[in-house]
Amino acid sequence: MSASDTNRIFNLAVEVVKENDRGTYTVPTKGLYPFQWNWDSCLTAIGQAYFDEDRAWTEMETLFEHQWPDGMVPHIIFHVYDDGYFPGPDVWNTNRPTPTSGITQPPVAGFALRRLFERSKDRAAAERRARALLPKIEKWSDWFYANRDPKGEGLVAILHPWEAGRDNSIDWDEAFERVPTDGIAPYTRRDTQHADPSHRPTKEQYDRYLWLVEHFRDLNWDNSKLHDASPFQVVDPGFNAILIRSGADLAAVAEALGETEMAARNRARAEKSLAALERLWSDEYGQYLCLDRTTGELVKSASIGGLMAVFAAIPAERAASIAKIITRQAETLRYIVASHDPADPRFEGKRYWRGPVWLIVNYMIQDGLRAAGQTDLADRVLQNSLELIEQSGFAEYYDPQTGEPCGGGRFTWTAAMVLEFLALSGRL
Ligand code: GLC
Repeated sequence: MSASDTNRIFNLAVEVVKENDRGTYTVPTKGLYPFQWNWDSCLTAIGQAYFDEDRAWTEMETLFEHQWPDGMVPHIIFHVYDDGYFPGPDVWNTNRPTPTSGITQPPVAGFALRRLFERSKDRAAAERRARALLPKIEKWSDWFYANRDPKGEGLVAILHPWEAGRDNSIDWDEAFERVPTDGIAPYTRRDTQHADPSHRPTKEQYDRYLWLVEHFRDLNWDNSKLHDASPFQVVDPGFNAILIRSGADLAAVAEALGETEMAARNRARAEKSLAALERLWSDEYGQYLCLDRTTGELVKSASIGGLMAVFAAIPAERAASIAKIITRQAETLRYIVASHDPADPRFEGKRYWRGPVWLIVNYMIQDGLRAAGQTDLADRVLQNSLELIEQSGFAEYYDPQTGEPCGGGRFTWTAAMVLEFLALSGRL
C-alpha cells in the first residue's frame, strides 16, 4: 500500500466516523442503528483518538453517564427518539431518565480506557479523565460478577444473545430452543427495511429475542432476579475474555495513577477468571466453547466466540491451537477470520454472525495473537482486513468467501478499526 493509498483510506475512515458523530456520541451507522451502542462506542473512541483525542474521551464519558445505579452499562442509549429502529424505548420500558435498553454488551471499556490513556498526547487531560472513568468501569465489573456469576465461579453469563454482541450466532441455537415465543406482543421489524433480510436474523430468532425482553421487563429489570429467572444463560468465552482483559487493563491504568488497591483487586479478579476460563476449553475442538449454564454442558459450536478468547492472556499452547484453526480457515476462505467454522454445515457466509467476517473481531484476535507471540498470523489478519476495506469499503460485515459487503454501509466501528490497523502496521 503506497503512502497516498494510506492517506486516502485514512481520510475515508475519518469521514465515516465523523458522518456518524452526533456531538457527544456516535451512532454505529445512520438508518439501521440510530442510537449509541455500548461496545461500538468504546471501540469507536479508539479510532477517534487518531484525529480528535478530546472527542474520543467524550465518547466513553457519554456512555458512562448512562450507567445504571446498580452498575450496569446498557447496550443501547436512546438519546434522541427515532422510530426507524425496533425494539425502541417503549418496548424496553426501563424507566431511566434517558431511555436505555435493559441488557448489557461486551465490556471492552477497560481495554479502550487503557488504549486512550497510554497513547494520549495531552497527559494532564488523560490522567484527569481516566481517573474519573476508573471507578465507573470497576463498578460495571462488580455488577457483572455480582449479578451474572451468582455462584462465584469466575465466569459470567449472558442472558440474551444481544448481550454477546453476536446476535444470531450458531452458539445460541440450542439454548434458544428453550426460550418460548408464546404471548409476545405483535411487532414490525425495522432492520429488514434497512438491510437485506437474508443477511439478518430469522423471524423465529426475533420472536425469542422479544420474549426474553418482555420476560425481563415483567421482572422490572431487577438485575438481582434476572439471571436465575432466565431460561437462557450462556457463558461465552469471547465475552468473558473481554471482561478479563478489561479488568487487567483497568488494573494497569489504576496502577499508573497510583490507585494500587484498585489495581490489586482487579488484577486478582482477572487472574481468577482467567483460570476459570479453562472450564470452557475443548480438546476435541481445539478451541474454547460456550457453556450452557442451564444444562452444564459445553455447546458444540465452533464459533468466533471461542477464538476471541485469545484476547485474554490464555496459555500459549491454547493460543497456538487457535492460531492453527485460523490458519486452516485461510486455506479455504479468501478472507479471515470467519465468525463460524466454514466446515460446519450450519455456516452461512452472508448471515450476520453465522459466518461473516467482522473487523472489530479481527482487531481483537490479531491483538491477542500478537501478545501470544503469533506475530505472522496477527499480521496476516491485519493485512487481510485492510484488503477487505480496499475491495468493499466500510461495511458492517463481509462474506469471507467473496469479500462482498453485507449489512449496513459506512459503519463507524469498521472505520475506527481501520485507523487502528493503519497505525499498527506502521503506516500512520
Ligand atoms: C448488531 C451487532 C452488535 C452491535 C450492533 C450495533 O446488533 O450484532 O454487536 O453492537 O449491531 O452495531
